[in-house]
Formats: sequence, structure tokens, C-alpha cells
Amino acid sequence: MMYPVIVTGSATRIGKAIAKRLAARGYPIILHYRRSEREAIELAEDLNAEVVYADLSDSKSVQAMVVELSDRKIGGIVNNASSFIGNSPAERLASDWNELFGSNARGPFFLTVGLIGSVVDGGSIVNITDIHADIPLKGFTAYSMAKAALSQMTRSLAKEFAPRVRVNAVAPGAILWPEKESSEEFKRTVLTAIPLRRLGTAEDISRTVQFLFESPYITGETIRVDGGRSL
Ligand SMILES: NC(=O)c1ccc[n+]([C@@H]2O[C@H](COP(=O)([O-])OP(=O)(O)OC[C@H]3O[C@@H](n4cnc5c(N)ncnc54)[C@H](OP(=O)(O)O)[C@@H]3O)[C@@H](O)[C@H]2O)c1
Repeated sequence: MMYPVIVTGSATRIGKAIAKRLAARGYPIILHYRRSEREAIELAEDLNAEVVYADLSDSKSVQAMVVELSDRKIGGIVNNASSFIGNSPAERLASDWNELFGSNARGPFFLTVGLIGSVVDGGSIVNITDIHADIPLKGFTAYSMAKAALSQMTRSLAKEFAPRVRVNAVAPGAILWPEKESSEEFKRTVLTAIPLRRLGTAEDISRTVQFLFESPYITGETIRVDGGRSL
């Protein structure tokens, strides 16, 4: 029997690819969204999935999602949702910090710890981090810090939850350009720093998530999927 997998931020882009791939492998899917309600509902119809709302930067909203799902058996969680905000001016520093740490670290932590009792034996948690959890991204200090916390959470919870539940991470390099338009110069600079000379695809990430779900002797590991960029 396959139990549902929660994929956060899965109405669009990489999260959507992960949800589709796991659904194709037979996992029932619980799609999580914040703003992309329409896309989440459309995808849920395609995948015969459920949807759940939470703002991961709001502790009460995360708690409500935990309560909503806590009487269920869960096969796994993919912590994919993330805000990506560059260094902030003083007047936005505190609120952007809250958004960055909420979506990338605190939200995933409380969601995962809150639901761990519902995760079945042999279940799997996969966190989508970033190569910039290790290598700082200039102009994105708080984002890099928050992803570093998620990366440490991967190893710490792998120890805490063993032997019952495995916890791993996928660290993407440059996969999809940010939603906000990127300049041609920025794109050129990024591409020349990638030994494989191209962006990755959402499928490159979803394939690795599937691999981790189906690799019962791997825990506490992070797999970089970055075309060699961090070499
Ligand atoms: N794209 C890349 O090249 C790249 C590179 C390195 C790492 N990554 C990582 O890969 C993952 C997916 O990347 P992506 O580019 O597909 O991400 P994205 O489109 O920028 O964001 C994914 C989703 O996160 C959700 N989200 C953001 N803040 C949230 C909050 N406070 N509460 C709840 N949901 C929130 C949003 O859901 P709604 O739309 O429903 O609001 C959004 O659609 C992320 O963890 C990202 O950090 C991506």
C-alpha cells in the first residue's frame, strides 16, 4: 500500500514536476500551495490529488496544516516551497528574514516534526535545499543562511528519525530562472559558471527526489544536481 506524499509549493515549476513524477510512480499526492490556488486545483484534478493551504512563514498557518493532516498516515514529505529574496533594505529586513526563514527553514521544520508521528515506517522526507546552502550566493545572505539551516535539518533529523524514517536533500544548482525577470548578463554569467553549460530541468530534480524515495539505505545525504557548478 502506498501512502500519500505531501509536496510543498507544488502548484508550479519544480514542485509540480516532483508531484507529477511521484504520482506517476503510484504515490497518492497532497499538493500544498500558498498563492497558487488555481494552479493547485487544476493539477489536483489531473493527478487525482488533494490540496492543502499553508503560509509557511506564519506559525499558526503551519500548525493548522499539521492539525488538518495529523489523523492521516503519510508516506513522506517533500519540503520544496521556498521564497527567494535578495538582500533587503533596512525597512524590509525583518519581514524578509521572517519570510525567508519561515518558508525555507522554520516552516519545513515544524511541518516535518509536527507530522512525523503520522509518517509510516519506511517513510521518506526529502528537503529541496540549494548549492548555496554551502557556497554563499552574493546578494542573498539571509536566503543562503536559511537554506544552510534546512541542510543541517536534513542531517539532524536523519539521526533523530532513524531507523524509522529517512531524511535526505536535493541541492539544485541553476534549474529555472527566477520568476522575476533575469537580465541577459546575469544569465550569461550563471551559464559560464556551469561545467555542463546549460541549466538543469525540473525533471533533473524530480528524478533525484524519486531516487531518494526509492533508496532504502540512504539517509542524511544531500545530492547536488547542478551540472558541476559547485566543483
Ligand atoms: N529554480 C532554481 O533554479 C532553483 C535553484 C536552487 C534551488 N532551488 C530550490 O528548488 C525549490 C523549487 O524551486 P522553484 O524555483 O520551483 O521555486 P519557486 O517557484 O520560487 O517557489 C516554489 C513555491 O514555494 C511556495 N512558497 C514560497 N513562499 C512560501 C510560503 N511562505 N508559504 C508557502 N509556500 C511558499 C510558492 O507557492 P505558491 O505559488 O502557492 O504561493 C511557490 O510556488 C525551492 O526550494 C528552491 O529554493 C531552485
